[in-house]
Amino acid sequence: MDIEKILKELTTEEKASLCSGHDFWHTKAVERLGIPSVMMCDGPHGLRKQKGEGDHLGINESIETVCYPSASALASSFDRDVLSELGTALGKECQAEQVGMLLGPGVNIKRSPLCGRNFEYFSEDPYLSGELAASYVSSLQKQGVSACVKHFAANNQETRRMSGSSEVDERTLHEIYLPAFETVVKKGKTRSVMCAYNALNGVFASENQFLLTDVLREKWNYQGMVVTDWGAVKDRVKGLLAGLDLEMPGGPGVQDRKIVEAVKNGDLKEEVLDKAVRNILTMVRDSMDNQKADAVVDREQCADLSALLAEKCAVLLKNQGVLPISKEKKVAFIGEFAKTPRYQGAGSSHIHVAHAVGACEAAAGLGIEVTFAQGYRICEDDDTKQLREEAVKAAREAETAVIFAGLPDSYESEGGDRENLAMPENQNLLISAVAEAQPNTVVVLHGGSCMELPWIEQVAAVLCVHLGGHQVGRASVRLLYGEANPGGKLAETWPLKLEDNPSYLNFPGEEGVVQYREGIFVGYRYYDKKKMDVLFPFGYGLSYTDFRYEELKLDKCRMEDTEELTVSCRITNTGRYPGSEAVQLYVQDAGCKAIRPVRELKGFEKVALEPGESREVFFTLDKRAFASYDIGLHDWYVESGTFFIEVGASSRDIRLSGEVKVTGTLEKPVYYTKQSTVGELMKTDRGRAFIEQMMNRGQDGGGEAAKAENVKNMGEGSDKIVESMMMEMPLQSIVTFGRMTEGQPDDLLRMLNADFKGRDDETNRKV
Ligand code: BGC
Repeated sequence: MDIEKILKELTTEEKASLCSGHDFWHTKAVERLGIPSVMMCDGPHGLRKQKGEGDHLGINESIETVCYPSASALASSFDRDVLSELGTALGKECQAEQVGMLLGPGVNIKRSPLCGRNFEYFSEDPYLSGELAASYVSSLQKQGVSACVKHFAANNQETRRMSGSSEVDERTLHEIYLPAFETVVKKGKTRSVMCAYNALNGVFASENQFLLTDVLREKWNYQGMVVTDWGAVKDRVKGLLAGLDLEMPGGPGVQDRKIVEAVKNGDLKEEVLDKAVRNILTMVRDSMDNQKADAVVDREQCADLSALLAEKCAVLLKNQGVLPISKEKKVAFIGEFAKTPRYQGAGSSHIHVAHAVGACEAAAGLGIEVTFAQGYRICEDDDTKQLREEAVKAAREAETAVIFAGLPDSYESEGGDRENLAMPENQNLLISAVAEAQPNTVVVLHGGSCMELPWIEQVAAVLCVHLGGHQVGRASVRLLYGEANPGGKLAETWPLKLEDNPSYLNFPGEEGVVQYREGIFVGYRYYDKKKMDVLFPFGYGLSYTDFRYEELKLDKCRMEDTEELTVSCRITNTGRYPGSEAVQLYVQDAGCKAIRPVRELKGFEKVALEPGESREVFFTLDKRAFASYDIGLHDWYVESGTFFIEVGASSRDIRLSGEVKVTGTLEKPVYYTKQSTVGELMKTDRGRAFIEQMMNRGQDGGGEAAKAENVKNMGEGSDKIVESMMMEMPLQSIVTFGRMTEGQPDDLLRMLNADFKGRDDETNRKV
């Protein structure tokens, strides 16, 4: 397909019409020029290919297929290979179903545990989200299918999701809400980006020049296509001007006509339209060129993969020796979820499966006998006393009770936020009652985000299987009986209570405006800074085996921020079970002047080890691992100083620590004004000399004499008070207090600000 030639042959009307979909799921074809139509489908954790015209709420049935664990589960694997396996499997399936683009992954940050769509997002941490999503995207695209990373950007709640404005400051955007997208663009090389419904700082994402052009295309050098979220267009022409290409879904052509009108009356240059069409046709051409006509999908194999991935994502939250369960034990499975598990979230990502495998069925398949009691009814918060009593009886008669519990569908879904972190009361009552009757009580939790667990002290073990895909029952049973070992770690902090969450006072905002006032302090960045207790920290998860961490090595102890640092350590499985460990690397900026989190995740590796086996794990850190975003520079900035390199089993279980001195090569321009304080001026050589000279020739006869006078008049320690008052005094006030003449501040400022001449204007580096 020769895109430049086609562009010359297309009429303005045809170009405009190519900028919106043919229907819900297809781009338009132009037969006379050989432009085919490409099909897009949700995504992200399965293929939702709707039959017929389709409607995006999932009311029309979609094809029967495989549902994999949702993103919140996948992130808990801390394993790039898990995401890569999923991307490959989905790519193959898309090929077999003639789908050219898959609408995912969603990389929005879990700002609040209340976001109804948290199950579709990876983590509260941007590094983890970006790395995992990039792995998924590269593998999917290796199969010739385009990914579509969504929802760009600051789409972190469902309340007013289509019309609200997220108010986020520049630093917070760059440190928290943009990096995952950046990684998927730069490392994952995604071929498409979906803009969010919401506005960012008052400008809708679908017409946000800052997001779609300044950041995406100019800063990150993105070459692919931008598509709207379904129905996100507000002003189509503004959208094109801002960098939006394709509008989805297709409508009756109203917006296309507006584009033509704007070109005709000169409001929109034809080149701008050409740019959008070029981006759309590039995606179409890539999909067509990479189509594999003979692709087939083996859904049984995919179901096995789904079960395996679910195993790798599960997080063991508590275990007082009761897990794994011996097959000889008499076990009662309790709870409706043991038969009809909750395995995915509701909304546009909803996958149609023939049958979801619950734990009862899976146990039977493995020849494991268990008794069953329903315990509660899903979606009924009322007290189900009789079911509870039957469950208590079953638990008493068994040696171990396993309760399958968690959030029902109605508690979290696209289109609405959660009200609190509570599980249904009938389930809480059941768990307490069973735990009272049976000391060996295990809870298997299903849900897309964190929950409050009021009974946590009463039970012996808790295994979180998240929303684990339609084979979750198989994974649960293998994990419970030790055929697999849990190796997942939490990708979000579980707070003790909702009120502890940093976004609590500003979620979901007022009248469609939500202020991200907690700034960069999202998730563990906040809890750690405030030294708060949490239920389970970020990165936490237990195993049936133990791991020893040792031999931390840094390949240098001093470096410039343009160099890379290689870190390694040795991990040994010291227990009796084979298992895998998600080794996490955090960086702490010791003694920085900037307000920064205590530590931030900058590396992770998953290692699978047999008992007694040991392996060296490597990490590479570059400038971004040490930098924070500086709003003066509008760039990443490393403050020279010491950084701690911490390697551990969770954000609160640091096992090894080393340090490196990093010299930042970028200097911050500091422009002094009459409001600059003495303290600030004293930080420069010339400023200090000037001030000292000024102080010594003051009317009182000099600094030392003045200090002695202060001590005499105001008592011991007063010299310090006076000094600190002086340090806070702005230049202008020094004149007021008569220690400088009117013209002196200007002379000083000229001298200090002249210091910045001789720098490269672009990079601000010394030349
Ligand atoms: C969702 C997207 C989804 C699209 C198409 C929208 O409502 O926000 O994530 O890809 O619908 O179904």
